[in-house]
Amino acid sequence: MKVGILGGGQLGRMLLQAAANYVVETYVLENDENCPAAHLCHHFTRGDITDFDTVYNFGKCLDALTIEIESVNVDALEKLEAEGVKIYPKPSAIRIIKNKVTQKEFYNTHQIPTSAFIITETRVDLEKQIHFLPAVHKLGLGGYDGKGVQILNNADDISKGFDAPAILEKKVQIKKEIAIIVAMNDAGETVLYPPAEMIFDPVLNLLDYQISPAILAEKTTWKIEAFAIRVVKELKSAGLFAVELFIDADDEVLVNETAPRVHNSGHHTIEANYSSQFDMLWRIILGYPLGNTHPILPSAIVNIIGAEGHTGKAKYEGLTEVLKMDNVFVHLYGKKDTKPGRKMGHVTIISNDYQDLTYKAHRIKHILKVTT
Ligand SMILES: Nc1ncnc2c1ncn2[C@@H]1O[C@H](COP(=O)(O)OP(=O)(O)OP(=O)(O)O)[C@@H](O)[C@H]1O
Ligand SMILES: [Mg+2]
Repeated sequence: MKVGILGGGQLGRMLLQAAANYVVETYVLENDENCPAAHLCHHFTRGDITDFDTVYNFGKCLDALTIEIESVNVDALEKLEAEGVKIYPKPSAIRIIKNKVTQKEFYNTHQIPTSAFIITETRVDLEKQIHFLPAVHKLGLGGYDGKGVQILNNADDISKGFDAPAILEKKVQIKKEIAIIVAMNDAGETVLYPPAEMIFDPVLNLLDYQISPAILAEKTTWKIEAFAIRVVKELKSAGLFAVELFIDADDEVLVNETAPRVHNSGHHTIEANYSSQFDMLWRIILGYPLGNTHPILPSAIVNIIGAEGHTGKAKYEGLTEVLKMDNVFVHLYGKKDTKPGRKMGHVTIISNDYQDLTYKAHRIKHILKVTT
């Protein structure tokens, strides 16, 4: 089979690492020929994944296509789908998810619990909604990695809001942030990975590290699994999906958002689960049986992020020391240049002992720095 990936970042790179286990000819479309996925595919095409003609011409000779980012040209994918190219996930699912406005409406339509929200078109519109604060303002299109999200606690914060179509959603008193990966094949069969807990740095409001399986009350796990399955069933699309959820102060479970693709919260599955999220997506695309999602051991992920004050050719301080640690797996994405906040790699730790996981996660965050 000939399979194309729209986007050539680290997700595409790790997808291609898993493709090497199967008989598949891989194609990547991305603007930058030095992108993380460029040298791991059979065929690289330089081009804009948001441009109709570029995406259509890239896909028309392929058997199947997948994405590693939602900001792709969905019209071209719809035309390709109509002409018989299999698309994972379906363009209709990408269209719903791509815009946070339609995504939130989708949760309401299908009775999937999510925080209450209103739609704002302009900042003037937002200014009339002070009674709705504290709330979180989210850009409809184009946000990623927290860019496009503003917490508005009171009227003084209104100027931080967006002057473009956006949602204003009630601020949730978050007890835990959870992510769960669901896979669905063409036959509609589903499998779930164990939920992961994302632990945030309260000062920087950045993901600190992640632990999986999350330690949760049984009833909470059931809700998380039920809502995640409902999201994917209602999207009516085969593929691999990551559903992010909040557990609030009253132990209610709310869906925050869904990514219709392999996801940062699933990187530990490479070493920690029998079938990784990347292996799973290939099984779906190639029509093989779904894989085993069971954990081999509990795990943690630490993201390797470009340090503040460093922009330019990347250097990895403390790498040797981290590589000496037991049951620690380093993944560098091959990005030449670093800048503050850029995702440059991740480290997975596996251990039977949750204390060992958190101890090593903190130690790695302390030791490993991306500088110039
Ligand atoms: N309604 C809410 N109440 C409280 N905090 C929220 C709410 N919505 C989002 N947040 C916080 O903001 C973070 C980013 O929000 P969200 O996941 O919607 O945006 P994003 O840009 O898609 O981010 P990412 O790409 O990092 O997942 C969440 O992980 C959470 O910590
Ligand atoms: Mg998110």
